[in-house]
Amino acid sequence: MVSSNITAVSHGVSEQQRWQKHGHSGGVLWFTGLSGSGKSTLAMALEVELFARGYETFVLDGDNLRHGLNANLGFSDEDRSENIRRVGEVAALFAKSGVVVLTAFISPFISDRNRARDIIGDAFHEIHLDPGLAACEARDPKGLYKKARAGEIPDFTGISSPYEAPESPELRIDTQQQSVEQSIEQLSVYVDRIFRLA
Ligand code: ADX
Repeated sequence: MVSSNITAVSHGVSEQQRWQKHGHSGGVLWFTGLSGSGKSTLAMALEVELFARGYETFVLDGDNLRHGLNANLGFSDEDRSENIRRVGEVAALFAKSGVVVLTAFISPFISDRNRARDIIGDAFHEIHLDPGLAACEARDPKGLYKKARAGEIPDFTGISSPYEAPESPELRIDTQQQSVEQSIEQLSVYVDRIFRLA
């Protein structure tokens, strides 16, 4: 539902002015993949690397936001959609402020990711991390796959809830074959090419 009787107000600082100040444009690297695919690890390591390179950058992470903004949401299809809708809106605001936002959410549904793409526009870059379910389950860093297999976690992505892989992401990263360092190098080169002002 959209409220009535609301009128948008213009900013006094333009997007271009913010970009000039930072030396780069704002945008979103939207990491998507199964639990254990490396989203948080890569996003956090990339944040460190980009910060060192002079970028304004910030990670929005699924587990973290579910402690605050999204604390009232669970893992039903509807709640995941609402989770991703909110993240898309927040990421769009960060991007407009000139930040390179790194989002780390399973975001299992194509329609939800496409909605975020629609909100953010050309500054949206989908990054698919796909080591495969077997590798994620073998890693199982939080012991959640084990619990899900034992029937202790309902609607667990990849086990009892679907993951819809992106058909044409801007970037695919094979986090099974590549080291974190190699992936960070690949991503840094990408970010410099896309966001750095000439
Ligand atoms: S999303 O599907 O709505 O995008 P999100 O990225 O916010 O998920 O949260 C995923 C994290 O929540 C996982 O990394 C895991 O730690 C935890 N989690 C708890 N229950 C589930 C579940 N049923 N399915 C997937 N992840 C879960």
